Amino acid sequence: MPALLPSLVTTRIDPERCIGCERCIPVCPSDTLSMVDGKAVVTGATSLQCGHCAAVCPTDAIRVEALDEGMLRFRTFDLDPAWLPHGQGDLPGLVRLMASRRSCRNFTEQPVERDMLEDLIRIACTAPSGTNCQPWAFTVLPDRKAVMRLGDRLLVFFDKLNAMAANPWIRTAEKVFGKGQLDAYHRGYRQRVQEGIDAYRAGGRDRLFHGAPAVIVIAQSPGATTGFEDVMLASQNLLLGAHAMGLGTCLIGFAVEAMHRDASIQAVVGIPKSERVRAVVAIGHPAERFKTVAGRRAAPIRWG
Ligand SMILES: Cc1cc2nc3c(=O)[nH]c(=O)nc-3n(C[C@H](O)[C@H](O)[C@H](O)COP(=O)(O)O)c2cc1C
Ligand code: SF4
Repeated sequence: MPALLPSLVTTRIDPERCIGCERCIPVCPSDTLSMVDGKAVVTGATSLQCGHCAAVCPTDAIRVEALDEGMLRFRTFDLDPAWLPHGQGDLPGLVRLMASRRSCRNFTEQPVERDMLEDLIRIACTAPSGTNCQPWAFTVLPDRKAVMRLGDRLLVFFDKLNAMAANPWIRTAEKVFGKGQLDAYHRGYRQRVQEGIDAYRAGGRDRLFHGAPAVIVIAQSPGATTGFEDVMLASQNLLLGAHAMGLGTCLIGFAVEAMHRDASIQAVVGIPKSERVRAVVAIGHPAERFKTVAGRRAAPIRWG
């Protein structure tokens, strides 16, 4: 089922500038515009607010007011806003960037500049989303203190979970009346998580956030039906942008899972109940270097 169409039409056309070339008509996915007496006019009742019309117009006659031009102004680098035609990207460079992004599990203590974090969010937002609904909300934990406020709450969660998983009676009951997830957790993760908790309590290594000095939590706002996909696409953009900026990242699935199981955790970092956390990204300056790019297993491919 597609996500709801944004219904608000914020497309404005300057009839003085319109030369009637009709280029904006076929690129519009929501049939918002038509040609009337040789000029483009808004005739549709809905708009994806995608801005394709404004991006194709040779005379800058169109403005989509819902779009924020500031989202393409970055603080740590200059962006050439000219559209890069198909086939003109640096493909080997792009693939090398993708394959060089690795999950970082050793961060330095160096803080991450706020400008970098803000730029990462703008980079994330260049992702596509179902019906352009952009259902993402970013919560920035900009320093180690903020990260550990969440970390401490997660510790309480995993302490409780480990105590339950260690109890064979509770595991059996959950197997009979639930989905057997507690037993699977016990077999797959409990020991490792316990070692992580013990190490953290002993003042040692932070195995949850890997010592990251910043975290960005990306949640899905209500109402989107492709929200999970949208947020994950935005997350991947953020990871790639971070690597290009010189930052390391790591998706922290343990934190996401905990937030799903205990909705009160997200309140600790100010995320309202109506949002569903999809990605927790640890961010920092990497204390590790690799020699080669990522290896992967052979992809299962089916030709139809
Ligand atoms: C959804 C998701 C959740 C993840 N959760 C964690 C996590 O909690 N802790 C961690 O250290 N790595 C986590 N990772 C990182 C994966 O282990 C990593 O992506 C995988 O081993 C491939 O390595 P690479 O990212 O370096 O290419 C997660 C990755 C994904 C995609
Ligand atoms: S693309 Fe611009 S100039 Fe061409 S018809 Fe549309 S509004 Fe007019």
